[in-house]
Amino acid sequence: MKCFRIGEREKRESVIVCRKKVFSAALAPLKERLLNGGGIVFTDTNVHALYRASIEKYLGGVPVFAMPAGEEHKNAETLFALLGAMREAGLRRDSLLVALGGGVVGDVGGLAAALYMRGIGCIQVPTTLLAQVDSSVGGKTAVDFGGVKNLIGAFHPPVRVLADPVFLNTLPRRELRSGLGEMVKHGALCPSLFEKLEGADDLLDPAFLAELVPENIAFKASVVRRDPREQGLRRCLNLGHTTGHAVELSSGLSHGACVLIGLLLESVLSARHLRADEAFLERLRALCKRALGEEKMPPLDLKGALLDKKNGAGDGVTLAVPVAAGEYELLRLPFGQYAREIGEAMETLC
Ligand code: NAD
Ligand code: GLY
Repeated sequence: MKCFRIGEREKRESVIVCRKKVFSAALAPLKERLLNGGGIVFTDTNVHALYRASIEKYLGGVPVFAMPAGEEHKNAETLFALLGAMREAGLRRDSLLVALGGGVVGDVGGLAAALYMRGIGCIQVPTTLLAQVDSSVGGKTAVDFGGVKNLIGAFHPPVRVLADPVFLNTLPRRELRSGLGEMVKHGALCPSLFEKLEGADDLLDPAFLAELVPENIAFKASVVRRDPREQGLRRCLNLGHTTGHAVELSSGLSHGACVLIGLLLESVLSARHLRADEAFLERLRALCKRALGEEKMPPLDLKGALLDKKNGAGDGVTLAVPVAAGEYELLRLPFGQYAREIGEAMETLC
């Protein structure tokens, strides 16, 4: 078992635990507390179908609300349906929301917990690789709105994150690849992780990926600890995301695959505009291509990049881009130039 902490002890502290037997050892002891208005389990229909027996065995009697699975349901309608279920279940200020699922469940559940009675505790039980290495850690919660990813959100750090490798056994390859995308992003910022990924024979081997989960959490926690509200350093975690989010909104590819495409294309802009280590960027591009594997490049529609929340005023696009092993910079370009250069990078690389 490995344990990480973010925040001040006793005050807004997140305890992140990587452990096996999460249902019997960590959730079952909470059952009494969750009954009779003390809590709700929030999940999605896929995860509910796969883990219904464990939920019933260890948390039987606790209300369960399952949203339809998928990014297209990460919206205000689902958020308000969940808030309604929390009201219906009689949740109080001291109640807990258990978000059992991938990043979509974690983001919607975390936001509902932030809003309900101005904030109740949230326990994240991430069931995808992506959620274990990235989205469950750090307190960002959100829903998509008006065609913009994560437009409505809040920082609401979970009281606890419980990451169990058992969930990875049922994950399809598409979702393993998605988590791998965020791990490659972490690798671009953390040289020891990069070397492990580069040295892998099979990047989608679930045992190899599960072994790297604690190191990824430790890396992300180290960034969030220093900059919980994204005032500076935490922007490094947006590497590949401006283009990635635009591709995600227009293509239906998984979040992590889109981050890989974003990293691949934006690294070309980095080399063109900044003093970058081209040899490292070449290695990064090779790793992104290996990680993308058989995933097909979608037609590019970059309009979503203009709507990215990170842009600030004007019609420019702000990108966090890799420049060398473990280093990143912010690059701002007018939208027209950005779209043209990304298009050129796509033609050269694919
Ligand atoms: P997801 O939650 O949609 O899960 C992907 C699919 O896997 C879904 O169909 C889900 O039902 C299924 N699934 C979940 N657990 C499973 C399991 N154990 N076995 C089999 N199937 C399972 O997607 P995701 O990739 O986990 O998360 C992506 C979301 O996370 C995006 O909305 C993205 O914006 C968000 N995100 C948030 C942060 C953050 O800091 N808050 C960081 C990165 C990504
Ligand atoms: N995934 C980006 C962040 O947590 O800041």
